[in-house]
Amino acid sequence: MSNKLIIFDTTLRDGEQSPGAAMTREMKIRIARQLEKLGVDVIEAGFAAASPGDFAAVQSLAEIITGATVCSLARASENDVRRAGEAIKPAKSGRIHTFIATSPIHMQHKLRMSQDQVLERAVQAVKWALEYTDDVEFSAEDAVRSDMDFLVQVFDEVIKAGAKTLNVPDTVGYSIPFAWGERMRQLIARVPDSGKVIWSTHCHNDLGLAVANSLSAVLNGARQVECTINGLGERAGNASLEEVVMAVRTRRDIFNLDTRIDATQIVPTSKLVSSITGYPVQPNKAIVGANAFAHESGIHQDGVLKHRETYEIMRAEDVGWNANKLSLGKLSGRNALRQRFAALNIEFASEEDFVAAFNRFKELADRKHEIYDEDLQALVSEEAVTKVSEHYRLVSLRAHCETGILPVAKVVMSIGNTEHEAEMQGGGPVDATFQAIEKIVSSGTELQLYSVNNITSGTDAQGEVTVRLSKGGRIVNGQGADTDIVVASAKAYLNALNKLHNNAERAHPQL
Ligand code: KIV
Ligand code: ZN
Repeated sequence: MSNKLIIFDTTLRDGEQSPGAAMTREMKIRIARQLEKLGVDVIEAGFAAASPGDFAAVQSLAEIITGATVCSLARASENDVRRAGEAIKPAKSGRIHTFIATSPIHMQHKLRMSQDQVLERAVQAVKWALEYTDDVEFSAEDAVRSDMDFLVQVFDEVIKAGAKTLNVPDTVGYSIPFAWGERMRQLIARVPDSGKVIWSTHCHNDLGLAVANSLSAVLNGARQVECTINGLGERAGNASLEEVVMAVRTRRDIFNLDTRIDATQIVPTSKLVSSITGYPVQPNKAIVGANAFAHESGIHQDGVLKHRETYEIMRAEDVGWNANKLSLGKLSGRNALRQRFAALNIEFASEEDFVAAFNRFKELADRKHEIYDEDLQALVSEEAVTKVSEHYRLVSLRAHCETGILPVAKVVMSIGNTEHEAEMQGGGPVDATFQAIEKIVSSGTELQLYSVNNITSGTDAQGEVTVRLSKGGRIVNGQGADTDIVVASAKAYLNALNKLHNNAERAHPQL
C-alpha cells in the first residue's frame, strides 16, 4: 500500500456550504492559489451545476491552477455531471466527483429511489463522467448509515464502471473512531479489486470527531482525506486540514505516511480563508488558533525556556507562525507594494485595480505605520468586497461616546445614486451605527452574528468585523476592516446588505 496520503481540500465546496460563506470567483481564485502553494493534491473548486456563477468559478480555477487537480462536485444526474465535465475541461488535471446517497433514510425520504435505482444511477454517473476525464471519484453519501452489503455492491460496481477514487463519507458526523476505521477496513477487505482504487474518507464534525475519524480511516487503509482549512464546512464543519496533516506528520512513527503539504503555509492559508469567509478562528483551535503555541502557566513557560520539547510537540514556525513580516510603511512606493503583492500571490485584473489598492494602502499607512502581510490581504479582500457592486455605500460616519450619555451615531450612505442620512442612539457606538443604517434601509434582516478580530497585534491594528445577516432563509456574511472598529462594523453591515441584494439563487448539492 502506498505511503502517500492524498490531501483533498474541499474548502471551496463543502467549506462554502457553511452559513454565509459563499464565495465569489475572485475570492475562490485567491484561496485556490494559496492552496496550490500549500501543496494540496486536489482542490474541490465547487459545484458547477449550482449556478452560472459557480460554473464560472470552477472553470476559472481549472484554467489557472496547474499545481493541483481541480475537481467539481456533481450529483449523479446527467446534467450535473456534464456541467462539471464542461467546467473542468481546461484543467491540466481535472476530476469529476459524483455522488449519490446510499443509506435507507436518504434513499427512501430524500431520493425516493430503490437500491436498484441508486446502483444503476451511480454506475451511469461514473460512465457520464468518464466521457470528460479518466479521473473520476465516486462518493456514497451517508455511507455511515448505509447497509454494509449494499455499500460493498455499489463500490464494486462503480470500480467496474471506471471510478478511480472511492470516497466513504460520514455525512452527518455520526461515527466514532473505532467504528469508522473498522468500516474502512471491512470495505477494503470485501470489495473485489479494492486494491486498484484509492480509498478516501470525508468526515463531518457533529460530534467533534471528524479529525479522529479521518485518522482512524487512514490507519485502516484510506489514502485520501477530504478536509477543509480551519475545519470549515456544512454544520459543525469538516475534518480540519491542518490538524490531519500535522497529526500525520508529528506522529510519523504511527502513520508512516507523507503528504505534499508545505506546513509553513498553513497559518497564512488559515488567515486568508478566515478573512475571506468571515469565519474567525477560535483562539484555542489546534495549530492555527492564536493560543495554539502560547504557554500561560509559569511552570510551562519555565520548562519551554529550559528545553522547548518539554511542552511543545511542534514548532510554531514550522506551521507558519511568526512568518508575518513587516511589509511596508508610509514611505513605501508603488514598486515595493507591487512586489509584496506578487510575493503574496495576489494579482490584479488591471492596472486600475492595482492603483485603487495602492491608494487604499496609502490611506491605511497614514493611520497605521507598520503594515503587515495580513493587512495587505485584508486590503485586497476589501477591494474585492467593494467590487461586489455596491448598491449600499458608506459615505461618512460620525460616532460619539461619552461616559454617562447614550452613544449616538450619524451615518451618511448612498443607495444607488441617492444619498441618505440618519442619526440614532444605541447601547454602544456599533449598535447606534447599525440602528442608523437600519433607519435608512429598513432591510428586514436578522442579525445572526457580530464579531471583531484584530488582524495583527497592537492597539493600532485593523479590526476585522464579520456581520452575519439572514433574510427569508438566505444567510450572508459581510466583512469590513479598518483601524476604527465602528467604521469596520458599518462597512461589514453594508457588505452583508450588498451580498443579499446581489446574490443570485444557487442550488444546494445535497438537497
Ligand atoms: O458530506 C458528504 O457526504 C458530502 C458528499 C457530497 C461527499 O459532502
Ligand atoms: Zn460533506
